[in-house]
Amino acid sequence: MKKILITGGTGYIGSHTALNLLQRGYDVLIIDSNINSSQKVISNINFILKKLDLDLIGNLIFNKGDIRDYFFIENIFKNCIENNSPINAVIHFAGLKSVAESKIKPLNYWDVNVAGTINLLKIMEKYNCKNLIFSSSACVYGEKNKPPFKESLMPRPVNPYAKSKLCVETILEDFIKSNKNNWRIINLRYFNPIGSHHSGLLGEDPLNIPNNIFPLILNAYINKEKLFIFGNDWPTKDGTCIRDYIHVEDVVEGHIKALESNLKFGFYSFNLGTGQGTSVLELIKTFEKVNNIKIKYKFSKRRDGDTAILIADNSLAKKKLNWYPQKDLCQMCKDGFNWITKNPNGYN
Ligand code: NAD
Ligand code: UD1
Repeated sequence: MKKILITGGTGYIGSHTALNLLQRGYDVLIIDSNINSSQKVISNINFILKKLDLDLIGNLIFNKGDIRDYFFIENIFKNCIENNSPINAVIHFAGLKSVAESKIKPLNYWDVNVAGTINLLKIMEKYNCKNLIFSSSACVYGEKNKPPFKESLMPRPVNPYAKSKLCVETILEDFIKSNKNNWRIINLRYFNPIGSHHSGLLGEDPLNIPNNIFPLILNAYINKEKLFIFGNDWPTKDGTCIRDYIHVEDVVEGHIKALESNLKFGFYSFNLGTGQGTSVLELIKTFEKVNNIKIKYKFSKRRDGDTAILIADNSLAKKKLNWYPQKDLCQMCKDGFNWITKNPNGYN
């Protein structure tokens, strides 16, 4: 049986990925510092597996710790080898992800996102684990490129978070070029993952104040607060920004396709987006309609660093990974609503 190490596995996307891998028969090892997540995710994953009548207790192991801690990570790789169950691949989600915070604390972002990844790579190399999937972001394309974005565009990141992601991509590419025979690194650039696991038992529960639109919509609904829409004067059909929202379960499916693909050794980048644009107003209206509720909102001024339209060209992932996103915006909104109504306080 294959063993997969998931860094950041109690986070939003990592937790959904861990569950999916377990259901497919993989052994899963999670590393997370819980700086932006709750350990309760582990019991929820086990609960879902039990409800599905899958006796997989023992196939999921959680280790609390920091990806920058060399000896902590090394011990995990070493123990797996000593127990004749080496780690076959790593899916590396762990990182800091707030654009706003990255402008205030850039060193933290370079340290966790870049130094943390270098640490992990050194240990993977030492213990002969040569298969990595990395979480990058559409933000590496920046504001100046024209959508829909193809992977071949020259990246132009504009904030420390985005720059740290591009820096890791560059390191990974250099690493592969340094004659790393038999290594395969797949770099996935996510657009705007939203929604939750259909059970309503896994979802997005940021410990810090959220600044992404979807958790803020859920927050506005559950706390009866007003949502501020950043600008109604953008050059779009209704004046609000357009984004490529994608269901978190489709993002997970992209990782499974990447992991199980027969791509040869080397470095690959793929966009994970639907290729469909949705404006902020359309997102709110869809959320209201499918859930039969109302969200209070108000227009405010544009957010610094925002851009009018971000849409993926996902043809490369379709062609090379045979990955086709399945869930539409209505499903994303229903599943997000299901999560927040079942867990108004998140994992607490
Ligand atoms: P998340 O914050 O929910 O998950 C990240 C996890 O990493 C958290 O559980 C956090 O506790 C953990 N972590 C952070 N620093 C750590 C450290 N030093 N050591 C160990 N664990 C640490 O975020 P997410 O939305 O699940 O995103 C996962 C990855 O995908 C991140 O790298 C993020 O930058 C990237 N990404 C996310 C989005 C998005 O919109 N969610 C978009 C593009 C890219
Ligand atoms: C943001 C980041 C991006 C990161 C991505 C995923 C910025 C400028 N960009 O992208 O680098 O990869 O998150 O983590 O921060 N909106 C509102 N009101 C709100 C919040 C958001 O109107 O309170 C609007 C925004 O203007 C935007 C859309 O909603 O048009 C989506 O915003 P968000 O969820 O933050 O994602 P991105 O801007 O795409």
